Amino acid sequence: MERIYLDYNATTPVKPEVLAEMLPYFSVEYGNPSSLHRHGRSARIAVDTARERVAVSLGCAGHEIIFTSGGTESDNLAIYGYLEKLAESGNRKLHVITSVIEHNAVLKVCQHLEGRGVEVTYLPVSGEGIVDVEILKSSIKENTSLVSIMAANNEIGTIQPLSDIIKISHEKGVPVHVDAVQAFGKIPLNVRELGVDMLSISGHKFYGPKGSGALYVRRGMQLEAFVRGGSQERGIRGGTENIPAIVGLGKACETAMSCLQENFIRERMLRDRLQTLILKNIRDVRINGDSEKRIPNTLNVSFSGIEAEALAVRLDIEGISVSTGSACSSGASQVSHVLRALGSPPEFLGSAIRFSIGLETTAEQINHAALITADMVAGMRGKEV
Ligand SMILES: Cc1ncc(COP(=O)(O)O)c(C=O)c1O
Repeated sequence: MERIYLDYNATTPVKPEVLAEMLPYFSVEYGNPSSLHRHGRSARIAVDTARERVAVSLGCAGHEIIFTSGGTESDNLAIYGYLEKLAESGNRKLHVITSVIEHNAVLKVCQHLEGRGVEVTYLPVSGEGIVDVEILKSSIKENTSLVSIMAANNEIGTIQPLSDIIKISHEKGVPVHVDAVQAFGKIPLNVRELGVDMLSISGHKFYGPKGSGALYVRRGMQLEAFVRGGSQERGIRGGTENIPAIVGLGKACETAMSCLQENFIRERMLRDRLQTLILKNIRDVRINGDSEKRIPNTLNVSFSGIEAEALAVRLDIEGISVSTGSACSSGASQVSHVLRALGSPPEFLGSAIRFSIGLETTAEQINHAALITADMVAGMRGKEV
């Protein structure tokens, strides 16, 4: 059997139609969008078209989109850019609210800000990974400057109650940034309907190129320049644009929207099938996250008594690519901060595997992956499944 890739939350392959649109911008269409001649104008049109496509997919206007190098940069830009602007206009102590299960692209920024005198509240989550909006409400203070909460968690897939989070924050006059890197392209997200103030996306999570991303910044929100230099991206992120990546991001946004519902249904069906087979054939397992409020492609399972990395390596040898915890923290073999925050019992902490499904996953692959996983777990437990 061919290799089975079940790690789409780590990254996705670039779709052929996305690549096809990008290719000319590596060769014949090499103009700099800041140039006034024909080559430049052609590149400018490509950037404008991509910006419009990203904006349409998020439900906003083109001028509210800032192109970045991906999710990490979008998150950094949102939090640093906004707080630095605020810091300029006064010397009161700033306060940021986030959650304990954010991606490091948000957590590390918050930790760094703490070192610079910003107060940060890390909201706890329920056993399923959901932020309690009442705790959020009581955490908002006079000096709260920003709330940053992810739309869906990268490890367990849990979806946060964004509308409530935004409503409560806005009632107290606090803007909200949402890291939607894992949610965009998997569930419907409309920034106007949500009323969110800033929102991060990353191209390589939805069949666009790596190194492409965007930050939605609601009209009227002021950000301090993040990369100083030219006047590109309204002077907030200077530097000649990465045209192929921007073109690819735009096309990936467009195609993601055109098959959103179809993919949602198909991936959820395959994910649920995998979950059912694992629960049926392997004892002492625990599904991490919320079984309902979960992005459709993600299944995070702990296998009691099994070392996750050892299982992932065995699955890899058998031709199946999965992840332990989040891809960004694997390698540094530490227990996931997300599973710890859920209050998982110790035997389930170091034994979690994330299966994430995507466009090329088939029912046969799911059956095979479930079978091999059961075999591997049985072998590691000494034959007793
Ligand atoms: C929720 C979340 N935020 C941010 C990032 C970082 O995105 P990027 O890899 O584009 O920098 C990731 C990547 O896994 C993620 O899952």
